[in-house]
Amino acid sequence: MAPMRLAILLSGRGSNFRALHDAISRGDLDAEIVLVFSNRPDAAGIAAARSLGLRSEILDHRSYSSRAAHEAALLEIVEKADPDYLVLAGYMRLLSASFVARYRNRILNIHPALLPAFPGVDAQAQALAHGVKVSGCTVHFVDESLDGGPILVQRQVPVHDDDTVEALSERILEQEHLGYVEALQKLGGSWRIDGRRVIFENKKTPVRSR
Ligand code: GRF
Repeated sequence: MAPMRLAILLSGRGSNFRALHDAISRGDLDAEIVLVFSNRPDAAGIAAARSLGLRSEILDHRSYSSRAAHEAALLEIVEKADPDYLVLAGYMRLLSASFVARYRNRILNIHPALLPAFPGVDAQAQALAHGVKVSGCTVHFVDESLDGGPILVQRQVPVHDDDTVEALSERILEQEHLGYVEALQKLGGSWRIDGRRVIFENKKTPVRSR
């Protein structure tokens, strides 16, 4: 089978993007990054993509008159790149319902909490404030709701009594990097959706843990 074609959308640091790139380079993920897109010219992730020689595109949302105009330009770029999956890796813009419908069950997001707990911004701070003893990350398909689409992978971490938002975020981020690879490995096998449940039919997708 041909490697799956990934378009990465990011707005910042890009550590999840780099973890995916590393997994592909190691041969752990049979995929090709066909596009790295940023809405922010100053995103560290897009600088990394350029220095890796990947096709990268920037459309600064501030230079568009409307959200719809920015998204229409993004759609054109994405369609040209012809990805199998769109991977949101710290992409800080909401996608419209029509964009989501166009790529139904082909847009992935990663969220730094065990959804459906703590959707939205500052998930790690929400988890600490709530006093949970366990948190983690969730890779899910994007639907029209906020962080509410079908779940592909979750990985958990303990929450310590003396945790800060930074310490908890770092612990979760390590799992994010593994979880995103795991989700895409699983999508490379056969899977189906049953209601909200994503059922993977090919069970053997080990993730190398560091
Ligand atoms: C991660 O914490 C991810 O869960 C959230 O945005 C952050 C992106 O980090 N959606 P990075 O840019 O991949 O380093």
